[in-house]
Amino acid sequence: MTGYDLSAEVITAALMTRWVGRPTVFHRTTSSTQDELKRLAEQGATEGTLVIADEQLCGRGRMARKWIAPARSSLLFSILFRPTFLLPNRAQWVTMVCALAIADAVYEVTGLRPNLKWPNDVLLRDKKLAGILTEIEISQENKIAWVIVGMGLNVNVDFSQLPELSGTAISLSEAIGRPVARLPLLTSLLSHVERRYEALRAGHSPVSEWAAHLLPLGQEVTVVAPEGTFSGFAESVDETGALLLHLPDGRTISILVGDVTLRRKTSERENNGVK
Ligand code: BTN
Repeated sequence: MTGYDLSAEVITAALMTRWVGRPTVFHRTTSSTQDELKRLAEQGATEGTLVIADEQLCGRGRMARKWIAPARSSLLFSILFRPTFLLPNRAQWVTMVCALAIADAVYEVTGLRPNLKWPNDVLLRDKKLAGILTEIEISQENKIAWVIVGMGLNVNVDFSQLPELSGTAISLSEAIGRPVARLPLLTSLLSHVERRYEALRAGHSPVSEWAAHLLPLGQEVTVVAPEGTFSGFAESVDETGALLLHLPDGRTISILVGDVTLRRKTSERENNGVK
């Protein structure tokens, strides 16, 4: 019942939203929902368009990593936003809205309260439950043309079958000890995305709520960023979503993109696991 429950018709009929998921494009198998939605965005697809798949052959994570998910085990989808009301350096606010919406939906459906981990992960019991990949197109006039937020949520993944990830990733079914139906989780998540995005459009910043849930604020960490590797104290985040890291030499630097290491190391090739 949990494995074969999704189709464009079933999702559309169950949606409680006005514009998120309208339209919904569903695939049993695709290369990457992110890549497909990018093509649709370039062709003028409307805000709220959802591309969702049971299986991705080339699922992508952050920092050019793969996203691994057995067929029908997960929620794998991308949503198109056109937040013309935001400055390009506030595009990360759309990611924050989606991360908070994942946490809302997981709580609503399972009673479990996930944490968020900078920059884009959703954790449960210190393991990675979901990852978010945000891609942005900026116009020649320096305006946001589109933001595509891709989400991979481990619903019924049996990580004991994926030894390279079992130490660092977790699924909802593992956490609650029984399979979780994907459709109610998806419709709840999309409703929370819509509600939170409309608040954003009305001028409500998600930063303080996002930061309140955020690991590793207040901890000593190592951050691997494109500009280098830095160890220090994770002080806070700024309005753009950048991590403010206090270094041993007294400087505080701001890092917009990177991976935070809390305790464990993970594979360089796959990004499903927490670091
Ligand atoms: C990360 O944690 O690295 C982000 C992972 C994002 C994975 C999702 S699955 C749906 C969408 N399509 C992709 O190819 N990637 C995102």
